[in-house]
Amino acid sequence: MERENWTSRLGFILAASGSAIGLGNIWRFPFVTGTNGGAIFILIYLASILFIGYPILVSEMSFGRFTSKNPIGAFKKIAPKTAWPWVGALGVLSGFTILSYYSVVAGWGMAYIVKSINFTAESNFPAIFSTHISSLAEPILWHGIFMFLTIAVIGAGVVNGIQRLVKVLMPILFVIMFLLIIRSVTLEGAAAGLEFYLKPDFSAITFQTFTDAISQAFFTLSLGMGAIITYGSYLSEKESINESAGYVLIFDTAVALLAGFAIFPAVFAFGLDPASGPGLTFITLPAVFTQMPFGIFFSVIFFLLLTIAALTSSISMLEVVVSFLIDEYNWQRKKASYLMGFLIFLVGIPPLLGYSSFSNFSFLGMDVLDTYDWFSNYILLPGCGILTSIFVGHIWGIENLTKEANKNSRFKMGSIYALLLKYIVPAVVLFMMIFNIYQTV
Ligand code: PFF
Ligand code: NA
Repeated sequence: MERENWTSRLGFILAASGSAIGLGNIWRFPFVTGTNGGAIFILIYLASILFIGYPILVSEMSFGRFTSKNPIGAFKKIAPKTAWPWVGALGVLSGFTILSYYSVVAGWGMAYIVKSINFTAESNFPAIFSTHISSLAEPILWHGIFMFLTIAVIGAGVVNGIQRLVKVLMPILFVIMFLLIIRSVTLEGAAAGLEFYLKPDFSAITFQTFTDAISQAFFTLSLGMGAIITYGSYLSEKESINESAGYVLIFDTAVALLAGFAIFPAVFAFGLDPASGPGLTFITLPAVFTQMPFGIFFSVIFFLLLTIAALTSSISMLEVVVSFLIDEYNWQRKKASYLMGFLIFLVGIPPLLGYSSFSNFSFLGMDVLDTYDWFSNYILLPGCGILTSIFVGHIWGIENLTKEANKNSRFKMGSIYALLLKYIVPAVVLFMMIFNIYQTV
């Protein structure tokens, strides 16, 4: 059967950007930046995106298009009867794990669409957030609705709906972010936040800064779990991978940096703690909205857009799991989507309860959601990333990679990919993984 293709290069870039841009940019990036001292983290993060993120992004796109397969099938095609397809299986496991708690956080965002209506300048946002996440019915309901939406899109087939959604979403998201930034930087006391965000304090560098930057690079670009392999498998031969990957990287980084610009000046203006963790976005941005004309309106729209951005990411995760079952086990798309989606919903319940019934849970000092996040972003994604770069660098071969990635490209890359993928990426990421495990355990 002929494999469906994205209808244009823009279609692919939009879909891949849709996968990349999501909670990772607006929720995770700001709080990780906040706990790592601000500007200095951004510098190391940008280096990670460029020297680790970009070559892996190009590898996954090329590998996917070359094989036209889901991640496991892709490894099987090039290295049959070896253990390599297990790397693809690891990706399917990551998709499963990440989506389960991603949907919980997306559910918080959905709840805030409704909650926004009652926000005032007097609201106690830290209390609203902690009350919400430690309650039961509402978070479960929204987690369920979010998973249902994800399932509905994937059950109906991936290619068509996504492009249209992202095309409309992105410009509106950018406009609201700009309005937020204008309000945030003009608040009294915003200057301290700008300094935190822009002026690197080199004395604050630790190994943790590097491990957090590298794992954020994987998460934000949807790398190390086959989502980009899967999307690449639908990419037409006419399009340049070097360039498409460049666009995705630029869009994703832009949204993350803008989110930080909206958040940090306000954090300092309102006397909040930049290192407060996963609540940062949910506590800070509503407070900024209450200081804006038509604040409620913008807040509703913003959390709606955040939900859609999360949805275009979540569908790419579920698609990995579903396309694997379709290609390898001949499952029907609908059955695979609903069954796996429901299982993922269930796996998401423990992290959700981590703020209420399971609040006594602690794994190496982390709550359930942080544990899922740690396991995914410090073990699964980088582990898969190392193996993928070794595979591309040494088994599939840099020559095959560059042939695929340079096709129809205005700029050609070669030796730099070889250097990064064969040696630097595996070595650096492996070091970061081992160091992080050593430090955490
Ligand atoms: N890149 C997404 C984000 O930044 O929100 C998260 C994500 C999507 C991670 C898809 C992994 C993935 F396969
Ligand atoms: Na992202």
